[in-house]
Amino acid sequence: MSNPLKIAVSNQKGGVGKTTVAINVAGALSARGLDVLFVDLDPQGNATENLGMMERYDDPEPNLFSCLTESAEREKVREIVCEHAEMDLIPSNIDMTAAEPELTLSRRSGEQLALLLDLVDEEYDVILVDCPPFLGNLMDNALFATQNVLIPALAETTSKRAFELLFDHVDALEYDYEIDIEDIGVVINRIDVRKSQAGEMVEWIESAFEDKPVWQVRERAAIQKSLESGQSLVQFDPGCDMVEVFDEVAAEIERVAESRAGDGEVAA
Ligand SMILES: Nc1ncnc2c1ncn2[C@@H]1O[C@H](COP(=O)(O)OP(=O)(O)OP(=O)(O)O)[C@@H](O)[C@H]1O
Ligand SMILES: [Mg+2]
Repeated sequence: MSNPLKIAVSNQKGGVGKTTVAINVAGALSARGLDVLFVDLDPQGNATENLGMMERYDDPEPNLFSCLTESAEREKVREIVCEHAEMDLIPSNIDMTAAEPELTLSRRSGEQLALLLDLVDEEYDVILVDCPPFLGNLMDNALFATQNVLIPALAETTSKRAFELLFDHVDALEYDYEIDIEDIGVVINRIDVRKSQAGEMVEWIESAFEDKPVWQVRERAAIQKSLESGQSLVQFDPGCDMVEVFDEVAAEIERVAESRAGDGEVAA
């Protein structure tokens, strides 16, 4: 496929499950036979670690930082892609901790990742970008490059404010860059049915996003363990009940990818 569906897995609130959801949706897409590129845009490098590629985090240049911030290095992006059993990965790097201020200096600070992904695009059906937990240049790069967002959120009242901040930011970016950023849906993560707040918040999120898919992922030890094992849940524990939920997210992404490709053919 020449024009993959690109999705930013985004929420500036920390620890809500961006990396967990991104890895497991990538694994589910791969299990469906799609070619996936995973971009770990978070300087923390959690996805790089959770995919068992931590040794790549200290790579000298070329690495994600140099390819993003120096236009002469951009072509080297192919050299930094590494192969995981389920997907290809552009790993994060220790140098990415300096990316925020560095990106501000570039002409249009939000467009660097898009230029990078243009060079590897044609090899994939879907590109997923795991975002860092803050609103800044890296997040803007992810939103501009993908123009689609999948939002993991916790079933907690703090999520209301997180959605407000995220959508204010998305609106501003749409205005500044004259783009439309589409919500793919919301993944409510780590639902613990023993907590009374959880049910209320699931209802609130479902009514706030009534025209979008909302998936529910429960708190599961197998999810935690699969991340420690360097693979997605469907490979680590195919019998876990949450495998089905990640597959439903993947099925929706596959559907959107096919319908956009169809639109492209009609337009062409
Ligand atoms: N459904 C789940 N069941 C059990 N543990 C989970 C689940 N989802 C996430 N976790 C655990 O919660 C922690 C935080 O998740 P994760 O790293 O995916 O969040 P994040 O939003 O990417 O965090 P950050 O904002 O730091 O990037 C991880 O240790 C992960 O193993
Ligand atoms: Mg993360």
